[in-house]
Amino acid sequence: MVLKVAVIGAGYVGLTTGACLAHLGHTVICADIDPDKTAMLQSGRIPIHELGLQELVDEGMSSGRLSFVVGSHSAVENCEIAFLCVPTPQGEDGSADLSYIQAAARQIAPHLPHEAIVVNKSTVPVGSTKVVERALGRPDVKVVSNPEFLREGSAVQDFLKPDRVVVGSDDQGAALKVASLYDGLTTRVIITDPASAETIKYAANAFLATKLSFINAIAAICEGVGADIDDVVVGMGSDKRIGENFLRPGPGWGGSCFPKDSRALIKIAEGAGYDFDLLKGVVSVNDQQFDRVAAKVTDAVGGDVRGKTVAVWGLTFKAGTDDLRDSPAVSVVNRLLDRGARVVAFDPTVTQPRPGVPDGIDLAGTEVDACRGADALIVLTEWDQFKWVAPHDVAAVMAGRAVVDGRNLLDRNTWRKAGFTHVGIGR
Ligand SMILES: NC(=O)c1ccc[n+]([C@@H]2O[C@H](COP(=O)([O-])OP(=O)(O)OC[C@H]3O[C@@H](n4cnc5c(N)ncnc54)[C@H](O)[C@@H]3O)[C@@H](O)[C@H]2O)c1
Repeated sequence: MVLKVAVIGAGYVGLTTGACLAHLGHTVICADIDPDKTAMLQSGRIPIHELGLQELVDEGMSSGRLSFVVGSHSAVENCEIAFLCVPTPQGEDGSADLSYIQAAARQIAPHLPHEAIVVNKSTVPVGSTKVVERALGRPDVKVVSNPEFLREGSAVQDFLKPDRVVVGSDDQGAALKVASLYDGLTTRVIITDPASAETIKYAANAFLATKLSFINAIAAICEGVGADIDDVVVGMGSDKRIGENFLRPGPGWGGSCFPKDSRALIKIAEGAGYDFDLLKGVVSVNDQQFDRVAAKVTDAVGGDVRGKTVAVWGLTFKAGTDDLRDSPAVSVVNRLLDRGARVVAFDPTVTQPRPGVPDGIDLAGTEVDACRGADALIVLTEWDQFKWVAPHDVAAVMAGRAVVDGRNLLDRNTWRKAGFTHVGIGR
């Protein structure tokens, strides 16, 4: 069934949702409150770095199935389904701040056609379906939870080939209509109640964060006992019950979701009368990881980074995205700055200062430029292109020979042969 869809919020999730639903044949109007972002989208350019998304937006706009407007009124006027894809940032006490969701619901309420369906795609705590129902004040409009599991960097692929689609509603007709949007996909559709759908999203993110903190803790033990984390990961991950995904050690986890969603789940648990000590430990292991990685740089330059120049490769929270929100790279850089280092960074998607780039760092135009005169180099994002930089080109411009590989990305033997002291994570 082809449906008329409105998407409120054209960010990482909303824009991907809109472009992919248009690709599946639906008619989609994406609305955003940011006039600059919307103008850029209306001119056919996307404001984010996401593989395959520009092509889908081009396809949607030229087919006439995808369009963009400022403000939500006109987007919802004729829609059958309206997606809420607005931010749910961390509130002051750690719980999710629902003010954007409530504001968006209030804005669209008077303009929604009779018996339209509103879908929560933002990550929202248990009970938010009811919060949206109250903000809408429209008994004829059903609210359905449809959490999003896409990963930045592979968002289009994740949306079009999902591991599952989760739909949560107390109304079977509304749930089936939302599920029918995904008819073109070969995937498992899980229809459940709203509280379970909302819990699935937080539980999935918390579990993935737990895997990452776990492997970073094991990496720390490897360093102490002389084991090699790469072999440990292969040995552990070969067990089908465990799997190798999300067992890569690194500088700590971050991004726009895991940090806020872990803290929100701790608060949800608190509200449910359960002290989620396990997840608190996962968060604190992650904070320690930023310190541990920054300390590796300090050690590599002789115990004090004050006055030293550190070259940084990678600022985004992962490869394949331009997103700096809660980036572990930024957390480590801030620690180096606090300790008095001068930082020169290169990231392929961060070419000029913008919100999220740490104050006081310099940006370089290439990997090698970032290393000019540097005492140490640290790799913080796993951009594939970093693997292909010739160590001799770096040696020719760097003052020191210390490399801290926060992603275990570079070929340590090649770098050591070129005269560098290569220190990784868990080796
Ligand atoms: N980014 C991810 O990888 C990801 C993955 C799964 C789920 N989520 C969840 O999806 C939600 C959105 O995340 P995001 O990363 O796309 O955020 P984002 O900040 O990239 O996009 C949100 C957009 O909503 C717009 N907006 C805010 N209020 C609005 C309103 N009233 N009307 C119209 N537009 C409005 C903003 O201008 C912005 O463009 C969050 O709850 C997040 O936790 C994100």
